[in-house]
Amino acid sequence: MIKILFVCLGNICRSPLAEGQFKRLIKDKDLGDNFMVNSAGTSDYHIGEKADARTLKNAADEGVIIDHVGQQLKLEDFLHYDYILAMDYKNLEHIMSMKQDLKNNEECATIMLMRSLDETDDEEVPDPYFGGEEGFRHVFSILENANHKLLGYLTERHEL
Ligand code: 4NP
Repeated sequence: MIKILFVCLGNICRSPLAEGQFKRLIKDKDLGDNFMVNSAGTSDYHIGEKADARTLKNAADEGVIIDHVGQQLKLEDFLHYDYILAMDYKNLEHIMSMKQDLKNNEECATIMLMRSLDETDDEEVPDPYFGGEEGFRHVFSILENANHKLLGYLTERHEL
């Protein structure tokens, strides 16, 4: 079982969408039994909340189901998950800084930037929260592409 955690700032826009898309992808490819997928935020701003209404609508329009309640990234997650995917550099910095609190010899998740497998110069998934609808659609297509790349990488690496 490969355990994946998508991480953004609020856990109401980007990371729950990444989670919903990845779940759909593995279901479509009949790989669902090989993965455990979840998402979290680096902040505590939206703990216990449903995803942002704009994210939910945008996802539903594209047939992606988001069934997630906001939660904050915690230190145990570094030991529980195999992969932690950060949406942008700020998230990555936060994650790397938290990681320093682990004891030296503890085996922990591989930490990656979500777009690190993309063949593009843009390395971040932009935060759509303070923008308009267009930004949410843009994020949807960025994540769809990045998730395809991620699944390709994982199926090869884990010989699925
Ligand atoms: P997310 O977007 O990190 O993609 O979930 C945000 C959600 C909320 C806030 C910022 C970004 N906020 O400042 O409340």
